[in-house]
Amino acid sequence: MPRMITRLFRPTPYNLRRLANALRRGETVGVPTETVYGLAANALDATACQAIFRAKKRPSTDPLIVHLADAKDLTAVGVSNELVAKLAAAFWPGPLTMVVKKLPCIPDIVTAGFDSVAVRVPAHPLFRKLIRLAGLPLAAPSANPFGYISPTTAEHVRAGLNGRIRSILDGGPCEIGVESTIVDVRDPLRPVMLRPGGVPVAALEEILGHELKRRTRPVADDSAAVAPGQLSRHYSPRTPITLYRKLSALQIAQIPPSEAAIMFDSGNNVVRHRGDNTTYSLSLDGTGKSAASRLFGLLRELDQRDFSRLHIEEVPGSDPWSGAVNDRLRRAAARR
Ligand code: TXA
Ligand code: MG
Repeated sequence: MPRMITRLFRPTPYNLRRLANALRRGETVGVPTETVYGLAANALDATACQAIFRAKKRPSTDPLIVHLADAKDLTAVGVSNELVAKLAAAFWPGPLTMVVKKLPCIPDIVTAGFDSVAVRVPAHPLFRKLIRLAGLPLAAPSANPFGYISPTTAEHVRAGLNGRIRSILDGGPCEIGVESTIVDVRDPLRPVMLRPGGVPVAALEEILGHELKRRTRPVADDSAAVAPGQLSRHYSPRTPITLYRKLSALQIAQIPPSEAAIMFDSGNNVVRHRGDNTTYSLSLDGTGKSAASRLFGLLRELDQRDFSRLHIEEVPGSDPWSGAVNDRLRRAAARR
């Protein structure tokens, strides 16, 4: 693949029009969303979507999410039902992705050959404006090289895909910081959560009025034969990670200087030096929400230091964000 110059675009009206035109011509564009940055292309154009897989080195067995400007546009790409309407009214625009039956206009490459399509209306005003200007549904996975940590700033996108894409719309840091919650809603009586994420399960269950079924645990074997999104290793920093329910003071004291500890909340300090040890805080205020927004950036930052291991404390199970954050932590910690 020929190397190209990768440019960051400030979100001026002129630049938005220019990037919308690039998308209409079949180019890929790095885009901000409220969850993580995406790599977008025209969802109706198989060749344009192929370029997403090429830039990310993503296997074609892993389907893409289709992004819409408004909930009413769903019927142009997939089949709605009463549950879709209910969840859309409650959570769109926002970090909820719904898997519905697809219409023939969506090419096979977007859905990895499945007869379903994942759709979401993002809450980021710049991205929604761009979708409207392009006048197209936009397929976009997270804008990271396949398997690496998802990007939460435009600079993260450039660091991972430099020379592989032309344009990135710089919309500042992502507010939520972890990907959308994915729910299969094809059977309105039996919704199934496929991935925890930006909409906490408790919020979904409140609207559903019953417990949400989760898909059974990801398989350990990362072969191409697994169902989409079930890869157990994902979000992988190069530095090995050990996870803890709780990191005790004694455990921290035993961590050698070449390794670092990340506590859920180490007090008000982001970084604290205890003797030879460096301790970081995942949450700035003791909430899982703060941990979610900091998680990927902190993993990237620490991955660039020369620590030989990271010891990370999980988000307490009682926190509504524990599902999403601990899922990413477990995948990041999964052995190569
Ligand atoms: O927040 C997000 O969801 C971000 C932003 C950019 O919207 N997107 C994102 O996409 O995280 P990513 O890289 O996780 O890829 C989409 C995932 C696939 O790995 C798969 O798990 C699931 O969505 N998916 C897509 N289409 C599906 C389908 N038809 N059936 C089941 N799962 C599907
Ligand atoms: Mg991804």
